[in-house]
Amino acid sequence: MYPKKPPMGFNTWNTFAQNISDEMIRETADAMVEKGLLKAGYEYLVIDDCWSERQRDPETGRIVPDPVKFPNGMKAVSDYVHSKGLKFGMYSCAGTRTCADFPGSYDHEFLDAKTFAEYGADFLKYDFCYTPMTIEGPLLYRRISMALRNCGRDILLSACNWGRDSVHDWIRSTGAGMYRSTGDIFDNFVSFRDIFVSQIDNFKFSAPGCFNDIDMLTVGMRNRGNVAASGCTDLEYRTEFALWCMFGCPLMLGCDLRNIDDTMLSLVTNPYLLRINQDEDARTPFAVRRSEDNLQNIYVRLLSNNEVAIMFVNLGEKKNDHMWFMLEEIGFTSSSGKGLQLTNAFTGKDEGVIRDYLRQPIDAHDCAVFIGKEVDVK
Ligand code: GAL
Repeated sequence: MYPKKPPMGFNTWNTFAQNISDEMIRETADAMVEKGLLKAGYEYLVIDDCWSERQRDPETGRIVPDPVKFPNGMKAVSDYVHSKGLKFGMYSCAGTRTCADFPGSYDHEFLDAKTFAEYGADFLKYDFCYTPMTIEGPLLYRRISMALRNCGRDILLSACNWGRDSVHDWIRSTGAGMYRSTGDIFDNFVSFRDIFVSQIDNFKFSAPGCFNDIDMLTVGMRNRGNVAASGCTDLEYRTEFALWCMFGCPLMLGCDLRNIDDTMLSLVTNPYLLRINQDEDARTPFAVRRSEDNLQNIYVRLLSNNEVAIMFVNLGEKKNDHMWFMLEEIGFTSSSGKGLQLTNAFTGKDEGVIRDYLRQPIDAHDCAVFIGKEVDVK
């Protein structure tokens, strides 16, 4: 499957890990619809690792869903997810075992793709643990991609080799629709900061068809669940979500959607941030200011419809009162007669027209995001 926009959805790993079940998937599907998440664009509900029995069925060679967690089998779960208007995602691994030591798909790629198609899967996350030394990573992804192309169902391949082997150079050629470029995220500021900063020069490889995936969001986890690691403040979650949106990353939520609080729900359904993330032109932002450590930068991203997105972000530890740029630097010369009509992406407030520069003091860990409409300023 060739995604034209960054895929959006939910994945079980960050909060639930092995604590997944038929019931919790159905409840999550209900929550995604009732809370307006599906309407906002979150369409994939993905079951990560730990869904199967420890061994394949010795007779058929197939992976078997855990009968305690999924007593009705996977097709029933998938049917329920589809009945809600959502899409259904599964998980496997390029190696002999998954990272949590369940059967992997190595040398069973075509059989497993057929099994996932029979479940009604629309998405497959494909991990990279326990891979054989004798075969290179790109070929392992080509194998599962070919298996998915030939399984009779349109299934998005979500590669997850944590950025190994300069994955950005070859992953699009395998047929994957998104690719994890970093190690696992944990629920704290330093984790998402370092993950983001590590990819600053690699977002240019992200485009329609194949998007750079910097991991499932921890937004809203509030230090509960599998990747809990002291948690983030509301302000830090806001910065995390804004970065993922600005850089066109897949938006896979990882908190427990059944009890997401109102502040976090309105953050992840913010129409301005989602409009930036899902912009049909899918252009890479450029930096108009870059600090030496890359922590205090200003980014501009051209959007469709003569709009631009502007982000001031301070991932450092001190307030910065001197973040500014000139419109000249984004291409509006002083003789252009052009300026930007700004809307604050967090509040939706019209912030007026700027014609020569924009300056914003930004607190530590904070950011400001605007959508600017290109207008005449006679
Ligand atoms: C990791 C992967 C995580 C999660 C986990 C499951 O390799 O990066 O996102 O899928 O395996 O065991």
